[in-house]
Amino acid sequence: MKALEVRSLTKYYGEFQVLKNVSFSVEPGERRAIIGPNGAGKTTLFNIISGTLKPTLGKIFFFHRDVTYMSAYRRSRLGIGRTFQITNLFFNLSLMDNINLALQISNSSLNLEEFLRSWGFWEKRRTRVGNLSYGEQRQVELLLALAQSPKLILLDEPTAGMSPVETEAITRIITELPRDITILIIEHDMEVVFTLADSITVLHYGQILCEGTKEQVKSDPRVKEVYLGTAGEEV
Ligand SMILES: Nc1ncnc2c1ncn2[C@@H]1O[C@H](COP(=O)(O)OP(=O)(O)O)[C@@H](O)[C@H]1O
Ligand SMILES: [Mg+2]
Repeated sequence: MKALEVRSLTKYYGEFQVLKNVSFSVEPGERRAIIGPNGAGKTTLFNIISGTLKPTLGKIFFFHRDVTYMSAYRRSRLGIGRTFQITNLFFNLSLMDNINLALQISNSSLNLEEFLRSWGFWEKRRTRVGNLSYGEQRQVELLLALAQSPKLILLDEPTAGMSPVETEAITRIITELPRDITILIIEHDMEVVFTLADSITVLHYGQILCEGTKEQVKSDPRVKEVYLGTAGEEV
């Protein structure tokens, strides 16, 4: 049983083909990184998987269920969680109110105190999210997705704009996620990718350039040439 299967996905924006016949699948519990240069179509792919965007052609299966035309709301209730590349929080509300709102749209029966304590945010539960640091806000975004008890979580550049210390903190949180959550992560920081991921899919101009274990992708000459731009050198 696959957690996720993306089958022959094609997406056009007008005349521009942003995804070209993209197919891949992810096992339950797998941690898959999606890497590739800016504009490769990574965020578009996530939008189609989470349901905020419809594909032109192709299908998405979530635990064998065809969700291609299901609303984003229903997908999130089925267990597809995501964070956004652009921070998506209610800045005027407290941390706890933000999480309660997320819980209302899912059917999660979460123990809020236990949850916030386990991620080290209990003491900050009454803090207005707007008063948290940028790094904390990105962590809260991740907590919002987690509070909905997802089976699959899509993380779009969770470390973007973070300091090294903040990057380390969020990487640790992701590493410590329970193994029954399948993770798809778009990430530019290769150190984070190699720390977190089991496997990597490289997207290039809307097509899969290569896919495999970290070791396979790291040593693939096409990846070195096209993406890492270090042909012939050690990555
Ligand atoms: N709503 C849109 N309309 C037209 N073009 C878009 C739209 N969203 C993204 N694009 C274009 O599609 C390409 C892929 O974008 P995106 O999926 O955001 O790539 P990535 O996340 O890999 O950087 C880019 O060239 C981008 O300019
Ligand atoms: Mg993107």
